[in-house]
Amino acid sequence: MSVFTITGGSSLSGRLTIHGAKNSALPILAATVLCPGVSVIHNCPPLSDVAASIAILEHLGCAVTQSGSTVTVDATHLDRNDVPDELMREMRSSVIFLGAILGRTGRAEMCYPGGCELGPRPIDLHLSALRSLGAGILEGPDGLACTASSLVGGDITLSIPSVGATENAMLAAVAAQGVTTITNAAREPEIVDLQDFLRTLGAHISGAGSSVITVEGGHPLHGGEHIVIGDRIVACTHLAAVAAAGGDVELTGVDYRHLSTVTSVLAEAGCHVKSGNDFVRLRRSGPLTCVRPIRTAPYPGFPTDAQAPIMAGLCTARGATVFVETIFSSRYRHVDELTRMGAQIRVEGQVAIVTGVERLHAARVVAHDLRGGAALVAAALGAEGTTVVEGLQHIDRGYYDLDGALRSLGAYIERID
Ligand code: UD1
Repeated sequence: MSVFTITGGSSLSGRLTIHGAKNSALPILAATVLCPGVSVIHNCPPLSDVAASIAILEHLGCAVTQSGSTVTVDATHLDRNDVPDELMREMRSSVIFLGAILGRTGRAEMCYPGGCELGPRPIDLHLSALRSLGAGILEGPDGLACTASSLVGGDITLSIPSVGATENAMLAAVAAQGVTTITNAAREPEIVDLQDFLRTLGAHISGAGSSVITVEGGHPLHGGEHIVIGDRIVACTHLAAVAAAGGDVELTGVDYRHLSTVTSVLAEAGCHVKSGNDFVRLRRSGPLTCVRPIRTAPYPGFPTDAQAPIMAGLCTARGATVFVETIFSSRYRHVDELTRMGAQIRVEGQVAIVTGVERLHAARVVAHDLRGGAALVAAALGAEGTTVVEGLQHIDRGYYDLDGALRSLGAYIERID
């Protein structure tokens, strides 16, 4: 079992390039299935979730090579249409392969992704989107069997702008004959990135980034090359670490516009924020103050994935800050751990009230989920003493070499195996 040991109290400074976005890389890797050719994906972070996606691609019969952050997928000889149970369990977002496999082969089989650390994760919207395109879906006790002799474009209206359901709908629609309209689509930057990749493959798709996406499906696809966007949530985590520890850090490789709801909160708390085309700089020299209530919401609202790290950053902000988590039912598991470090946080249902304390102190804490784990790291950087963080397998799903990145900014953090 690996742990991080983190000795807090030294401020962070320097420049850091943010790696590619996990939440873009995963659907883009799934999308490579649609094209009987070679896709080259750059800035694909070597994370455990990416390894799980590559394992699925290899299982399906794709030839995959990985060199640094470039992944090359040759899906020409894809000859299977199922996802093994263990890979479905390892990574909930394996469900994004559903639309792609169905689109390419007319059939897809997989077990249910099940719930996860954040609470129940239904896929009803994914399935009803695929049904709107003519897929027949059998929901058995052990899993799903989807068939579609030919998918046909249609109108899909999502009752909530689910990121995964939007992606599944886009992937299947690219393979469907005719025009598909996805209404109340998710507007996340990762959806735009997926659209950009699909266009390089020759797909006719537009509207991503707005609530209505239009796909003219059925065009033959060819290989393509794509650079994954920078990870806005990794960037937010580093900004939260600077808020917690103090210092002056410039992040590059990420679009500052993707961070605006988070940087505006940090500016309100008293940090100095400067941003330009390809950089965001955050400086925190004095104490922080509480901010107006933070409500998580679909993009362009405040990201649920940034809730935990920013909470960690504001644990010492004077006054009380209210968080309202509207996306997932069980996304405050970091709170007990932060409390162990001296934070004063009260949770009532989906609301958490953080009352700023003078300083956090070291403790032995456990990461229960990806972003909650990253929040503990951020908190520890500002705490007195040496904190031990367990549960790194969660953090490794979404952060490549987090300790190395923080060490380059002057943090005292070690990974001990
Ligand atoms: C994606 C992100 C995740 C992020 C989340 C919300 C990836 C790989 N993961 O997850 O990091 O936290 O968006 O920004 O991109 N829902 C249903 N039925 C469905 C699908 C979703 O009720 O069929 C609900 C979910 O329970 C949740 C809400 O919709 O309450 C949003 O979930 P969704 O946008 O689908 O999240 P994911 O795509 O799973």
